[in-house]
This record gives sequence, C-alpha cells and structure tokens, in this order.
Amino acid sequence: MDRLKGKVALITGAARGLGRQIAQRFTEEGARVIINDLDLDRAEAAAQPLQGLAVAGDVSSSADVEAMFRIVGDYTDRLDILVNNAGIGGTDDEQAAERRRENAEAIARGEVVHNDSTMEMTDEAWDRMLGVHLRGTFLCTRAALKIMTRDEGGSIINMGSIMGTYGKPGGTAYCAAKAGILGFSRALAHEMATRKIRVNSIAPGFIDTDMTAPLVEMKPWIETQTPLATFGEPDDIAWAAVYLASDEAKFMTGQVISPNGGWYMSQ
Ligand SMILES: NC(=O)c1ccc[n+]([C@@H]2O[C@H](COP(=O)([O-])OP(=O)(O)OC[C@H]3O[C@@H](n4cnc5c(N)ncnc54)[C@H](O)[C@@H]3O)[C@@H](O)[C@H]2O)c1
Repeated sequence: MDRLKGKVALITGAARGLGRQIAQRFTEEGARVIINDLDLDRAEAAAQPLQGLAVAGDVSSSADVEAMFRIVGDYTDRLDILVNNAGIGGTDDEQAAERRRENAEAIARGEVVHNDSTMEMTDEAWDRMLGVHLRGTFLCTRAALKIMTRDEGGSIINMGSIMGTYGKPGGTAYCAAKAGILGFSRALAHEMATRKIRVNSIAPGFIDTDMTAPLVEMKPWIETQTPLATFGEPDDIAWAAVYLASDEAKFMTGQVISPNGGWYMSQ
C-alpha cells in the first residue's frame, strides 16, 4: 500500500485488459489515475470505480493526443507516471482465425506450412499497427514530457512484448512495432536521465486478456512450451508496472522486465 502515494498516472488503452489492471493496482497504491481509451464510455466505466479521470482519444492521432493532454492539463499540473499501454493484436479478424485453423490442421498432418501474411499485408494494416504502438508511444510521451519535466523526476513505462525480440511468423508488423518501442525506450532513458525521468519497458509473455482470446486453439500448445505451463494473468504485469512506477525502482532505467512464465528467457 501507498507505494505510489501522491502520484498522478496516465495509462493509455486502460478501459480493459492489462491497462485496466495496472490502473487498479496504481489506485490501490495511492496514485490518482487518468484512463485513456478510444471510447469515452468505456474509459469512464473503468475510471469511475477508481475515482479517476477518463480521457478518450486514439493515441496514434496527433490531434486526439493534443486534445487529450489539454484535458489532462486542466485536471492536474503534475504527471508522475505515463504507461504507454494501448495496443492492438492483429489476431482477431476472421481471416487470421481461419488461417490459424488451417495451419493447425496442416501441422497435425505433418505438412510444411508457409506463412504468407507479410506478402499479403496491406499498407493500411502495416501503418495501423506501427501507428497505434510506436507513433502512439511517441506522441503520448512527447506530450507527457512537457508536464513531467516541470518537476524533477518521473517514470515512463512502455508496453513491449516478448515479440519485440522473438520473431513470430505472421507477426512482422507487431514484432517491428514492439522492437521499435524497446529501442525508443532505451534512447529516451538515456536522454531523460539528467532530469531523473526513468524510462523502462515491460515485455509480457502470453497473458489472458481479450487480446489473446482469439488464440484459443493455440493455447494448449503455447502452455506446453511455457516452463511455468500457463498463460499469465493481468496482475503479473500490473505488479511489474507498480514496481517500475514506484521509488523502489529508482535505480532502474532503460531496462526491460519480462514476466512470461519462462517462455522466452533472453530479454
Ligand atoms: N495480452 C498479452 O498477452 C500481451 C502480451 C504482450 C504485450 N501485450 C501488450 O499489452 C498491451 C495491452 O494489451 P491487452 O492484452 O490488455 O489488450 P486489450 O485488447 O485487452 O486492451 C487494449 C486496449 O487498448 C485500447 N486501444 C487500442 N487501440 C487504441 C488506440 N489507438 N488508442 C487508445 N486506446 C487504444 C483498446 O480499446 C483496449 O481497451 C498492448 O500494447 C499489447 O500489445 C499484451
């Protein structure tokens, strides 16, 4: 309790999933939370029980982020923590689900399976993936730094993934976006060190949320590949975020914490 007492935290994409759980734990630890998501009603539904502020906006849009930070600026003159969490999986459309089913059947028959998703990817799908994750992280960080640098200190936490260092077939855009976030975080950590603003990433493994729900057919296989033999739960990420946001992590910057059940061991 009270590990974040008196701090103000903005968490993007926090109407559900990992962001929602991070907001919950931050509140319990004494922070005031600002919850962003695409849709105001969903953001408000998450913010209300936490007595937080809801701000709607697409993090990949400059105009939305500007508008969002105007509201944040009216609400608070300080920002101690930013969690760039908003993200999309690119796994939830029917075409991707159909491909996964066909591939699973072909693998079971012992056939070689080609993955043509990069050949078939549209410009729009590539731009959207990079836009939400990488551009969104940049836009929110740039705006947040203008508030954070008024005081000495702060913590920025960027949501990476094990896919930022592991190459998943069918995931070139997602992996590129998450790898970009890790690089962005390291450079920014160096840049902000003189201002005592720490910048770190979390690289989750497979966690049970709406984003991973479409992976239902692959789940048993993923669990057999995981030394701890299970998907993680949102709290496995939320507690890592509490640590990085708190003063307990005062010597941590430019680092990646990867709660992943041992699925991937070389972050
Ligand atoms: N769940 C996992 O296994 C897992 C693993 C590694 C990394 N991650 C990353 O963690 C983050 C959260 O994932 P999750 O599992 O909670 O996903 P989720 O789909 O449950 O929640 C993501 C939230 O982000 C919001 N969002 C999407 N695009 C947005 C945008 N442009 N602007 C603002 N909000 C937007 C969605 O509306 C949603 O509420 C993502 O960055 C994801 O890539 C998740």
